[in-house]
Amino acid sequence: MTDRLAAVVLAAGMGTRMKSERPKVLHPVAGKPMIDWALDAAVAVGADPVVVVTAPGQQAVRDAVAGRAATAIQEQALGTGDAVKPARDALAAIAAAGGTVLVLYGDTPMITPATLARMVEARAAQDRPAVVVLGFEPDDPALYGRLVLGADHGLDRIVEARDAGPVEREIGLCNGGVMAIDAALLFPMLDALGNANAKGEYYLTDLVGIARSLDRRCAVVTCDPIEPMGVDSRAGLAAAEAAMQIRLRAVAMAEGTTLVAPETVFLSHDTRLGRDVTVHPHVVFGLGVTVADGAEIRSFSHLEGARVAAGAIVGPYARLRPGADIGEGAHIGNFVEIKNATVEAGAKANHLSYVGDARVGAGANIGAGTITCNYDGFAKHRTDIGAGAFIGSNTALVAPVRVGDGAIVGAGSTVTRDVAADAMTVVRGEERTIAGGAARFRSRRIKPAGPATGKR
Ligand code: UD1
Ligand code: MG
Repeated sequence: MTDRLAAVVLAAGMGTRMKSERPKVLHPVAGKPMIDWALDAAVAVGADPVVVVTAPGQQAVRDAVAGRAATAIQEQALGTGDAVKPARDALAAIAAAGGTVLVLYGDTPMITPATLARMVEARAAQDRPAVVVLGFEPDDPALYGRLVLGADHGLDRIVEARDAGPVEREIGLCNGGVMAIDAALLFPMLDALGNANAKGEYYLTDLVGIARSLDRRCAVVTCDPIEPMGVDSRAGLAAAEAAMQIRLRAVAMAEGTTLVAPETVFLSHDTRLGRDVTVHPHVVFGLGVTVADGAEIRSFSHLEGARVAAGAIVGPYARLRPGADIGEGAHIGNFVEIKNATVEAGAKANHLSYVGDARVGAGANIGAGTITCNYDGFAKHRTDIGAGAFIGSNTALVAPVRVGDGAIVGAGSTVTRDVAADAMTVVRGEERTIAGGAARFRSRRIKPAGPATGKR
């Protein structure tokens, strides 16, 4: 039987350097709040419960995780060791039953479930290490805690940079911040923590020394240095975003999507791209986009809350807003905006149109400059366009309005009444031609000497 597993996510730090009204851990990376990256990773490896520790003033964080995690409050930021203590009640059951408690930070969105799983696995080793620490070798160890290994290559202790002597400071293997701790020992060890150190804080890292003094082994699991990357500032947030984008692009390509210029495509954590989808340079995927197999998303398009079916072509310069549902083989061209509208299979809207709160039937053709006038200043109204209908260029469809299957609307029409199936409607001012009128106009307005220049 596998051990029980719980997790504590520390998020009580003040995040002052973000200079933000919003708690640091609620800032998104690839469209997902940082706290959720941590929470989801913990849940993905089977942690239950997950406890999020916040500062008293961070109600917004507690609200954001409500229903998905238990919460606890650290009254004062007295250090990472102190921060785990408020989770005591929520972890009482696992502390009694035994198992593993993962401790991770709310501001390290790159930590993967796979890495957490390796740490949990390491806890299950024969010698049952009491603490498994995530180690990594950063380019610049700077202020990271240093991992001091014993003769047996086990972990002997962690020395915080500020407390390290010159020899310890030379150690390249650092603490990535995640620990997997023997649940039965966690709180007794936390109670044994002191704060006689450079920062006057209760260091979670001191649990290693305490476990060793109890004659328990400790171990290190190493990871890619990108994973423990923490966010403290806006620049750090941008760096995490860049790292996450690289990861998401790699996953998309590994699953069979062509990204012509991956570094120019921006994905959300939940973007779903099918096989043989081609994404051309400079495309932004906001939240909630699914693109089915073989579809093509051309340059400079922006998609959010949209579905694109197999074989459809979107862009260049298209905008799909929430509720856009583009059917199989449909074409959405340049400067076309689709919102809360279904464009059925094979339909086309190729140029300069707004289609909102609408259905465009299969095979229908929406001419350049067609606008669904869906808003009257008070409410939104629907436009329904039947299969195979033809909407001439520069048509205004004043909703609510229906155009039946196979109907034709002449270019330039402003349609306010329903058009029956197979009917033809043209709503236009009468065209009047005056033979020779232009020449006479010019002769009245322009000096005889010069040709018409168009300027006055
Ligand atoms: C910590 C580690 C260090 C490690 C580094 C990795 C300790 C003593 N040091 O240092 O070994 O290399 O992370 O990034 O653990 N937090 C609270 N309450 C507190 C203090 C912190 O909730 O009282 C939270 C913060 O919000 C943050 C996390 O704990 O999410 C880490 O705190 P931080 O101050 O960044 O620790 P470091 O000094 O970077
Ligand atoms: Mg830090």
